[in-house]
Amino acid sequence: TAFGVLTGKRVVITAGPTREPIDPVRYISNHSSGKMGYALAAAARAAGAEVILVSGPVSLVAPAGVEVRGAVTAQDMLEEAGRAVDEGCDLFIATAAVADYRPDTCAGDKIKKSNENMSLSLVRNPDTLATIAARGDAPFTVGFAAETRDVEHYALDKLTRKKLNMIVANDVSAPGIGFNSDNNAVTVFWPQGREAIGPGPKAVLAQRLIALIADQLTEKAGP
Ligand code: PMT
Repeated sequence: TAFGVLTGKRVVITAGPTREPIDPVRYISNHSSGKMGYALAAAARAAGAEVILVSGPVSLVAPAGVEVRGAVTAQDMLEEAGRAVDEGCDLFIATAAVADYRPDTCAGDKIKKSNENMSLSLVRNPDTLATIAARGDAPFTVGFAAETRDVEHYALDKLTRKKLNMIVANDVSAPGIGFNSDNNAVTVFWPQGREAIGPGPKAVLAQRLIALIADQLTEKAGP
């Protein structure tokens, strides 16, 4: 990391999966380990930022000097991230793999096995990234896009539709990278450019990402 490129900046990062409860013992989730978000938090801290990491349930140790705030569901993530941004935020990075849908109700008791088939009724979850990007006082906002096909097309669509400053496209169909791996390969897009990073360890990617983001952040702030 270019030393000190984020000195004095307040950074909020989301990481990990969310869990959407079905009943007291079951939930809907995904394979996110939190590694990418934690690596970015460590890299941002190393670059001099004050970092709050809003983290879904993961089994990782907080990076030194980073404040971790827990969130279980997508609704928790929206609330915690919103609160952290309210405290003052120059840069928001959404690495979390937030569940797009949740069961419309959480059963009070464990659901019993009975019929051969059963179905769950799901409702849309709030989008933390889009909500923060739409604020009047929105920080510089960076999203991730986990895609299994047409990666560039969907990433560019998210960049404009969610009104982001940058988007990190992650092809999660490739073996050995993405969800729950120590390695990753991404392409970053912003309105005036793009850069492919990796494949390589998430810690190394995170340093390059933070340097690129810091460049764009200063460019946007202007001379
Ligand atoms: O955690 P790891 O095991 O290290 O894996 C890293 C990763 C693959 C999870 C990460 O690199 C990644 O790609 N994260 C984004 C995962 C994702 O859910 O992408 P998406 O295309 O569904 O969402 C687009 C963006 O909107 C993301 O920035 C996401 O954080 C955000 N989002 C989505 C839905 C929602 N309800 N709220 C959000 O904030």
